[in-house]
Amino acid sequence: MRPSAPLPPVTRFSAETNELLAKVEQALADRLDRQVDAPPRLLDACRYAVLGGGKRLRPLLCLRSAEAVGGRIEDALPAAAAVEFVHAFSLVHDDLPALDDDDLRRGRPTLHRAFDEAMAVLAGDFLSMLAVETVGELRQEPERATRELVRATNSMIFGQVYDTLGGTDPSLPPADQLRAIHDRKTGAMIAVSCRLGGLSAAADPEAMRSLDRYGAVIGQMFQAVDDLLDETQTTEHLGKAAGKDREAGKLTYPRVHGIDGTRRIVAGMLEESLDALRPFGIAAEPLRALADDLARRTR
Ligand code: IPE
Ligand code: IPE
Ligand code: MG
Ligand code: MG
Ligand code: MG
Repeated sequence: MRPSAPLPPVTRFSAETNELLAKVEQALADRLDRQVDAPPRLLDACRYAVLGGGKRLRPLLCLRSAEAVGGRIEDALPAAAAVEFVHAFSLVHDDLPALDDDDLRRGRPTLHRAFDEAMAVLAGDFLSMLAVETVGELRQEPERATRELVRATNSMIFGQVYDTLGGTDPSLPPADQLRAIHDRKTGAMIAVSCRLGGLSAAADPEAMRSLDRYGAVIGQMFQAVDDLLDETQTTEHLGKAAGKDREAGKLTYPRVHGIDGTRRIVAGMLEESLDALRPFGIAAEPLRALADDLARRTR
C-alpha cells in the first residue's frame, strides 16, 4: 500500500519553534539517509514511521531544556533526534496486533498496515538501535546520556508490558497502579528528553533536579491528556482510533478519576510543572508555553 499524505503540520507555533522543528526534521532525515547498508524497504518503513508527522514533543522538550540551562540547540540535536527515534519505535510496536492492534496513526495507516507486520517489528528494532547510535554523537557526556536513554527506553517497555499484559501490584489502589504504568510507558521517555537536553549543556545538579521535577509531572500529564482525548475526541480529529482504551479495558485516567476529575488533575499538574521551572526564570519561558500547550491540546 502506498502511504497517503501525512497530516498537515501544526501552524500555530511561533516562527522560532517552527525553525527548531525544521532542524529536528533535518536531523532525523539525515540519520536515516546515512543508513546506506540497510535494505531499502526497511529504510522506507523507517522513514514512514519517523518522518510521517507527529508533534515532535520529545525533541522540543529536549531542545527547550537545553536552552533553559543556557545550552545550544546544535549541541542538543543528537539527543533530540534519538528520543524521537525511540518514540517512533514505541508507536510502531504499540500499534501491532499483539499490542493495541491499531490501523490508523498520524492520520495514515499504521506501519504494519502500510507495509507488513514483519517489517513493523524489524523497523522498530532498527529504530531503537539507531537511537542509541545517535545519542552517542553528543559532545557532552555521551556515555552517560546513552545509559540514561537505554534505561528510559527499558522503562517504556516495562510500562507497555503492564499496560498490555498486566502485572502491576494488585494490592495497590487503582490510582497508584495507573501512575506506575503511565510513569513508565510515557513518563520515562518524556523525563529523559528533558534530562538529555540538560546533559547536552552540562547543566549543574540543581538545574537537573528542576528538569527532573518538570519532566516527571509533564510525562504523567501528557498520558492523562492522551487518555482524556481517547474518550472525548473523534478518530478523524485525532488521526488515530478513538475510544480504544475503554474497548480494551485499559486502566486510564478517565476510568479511575472520571472526565472532570482528570481535567482537574491535569490543571494541577500544569501548575506543578510551572512551579518546577521557577528557578530558571525567563530562560524557561518556552518550556512553560510547552507545558501549557500540552495541558490544553486536543490532539
Ligand atoms: C502518542 O504520543 C503516544 C503516547 C505516549 C501517548 P504523541 O501524542 O506524542 O504522538 P505523536 O508523535 O504526536 O504522533
Ligand atoms: C502508548 O500509549 C505509549 C507508548 C509507549 C507508545 P497509548 O497506547 O495510549 O498511545 P496511543 O494512544 O496509541 O498513541
Ligand atoms: Mg498502548
Ligand atoms: Mg496505543
Ligand atoms: Mg492513547
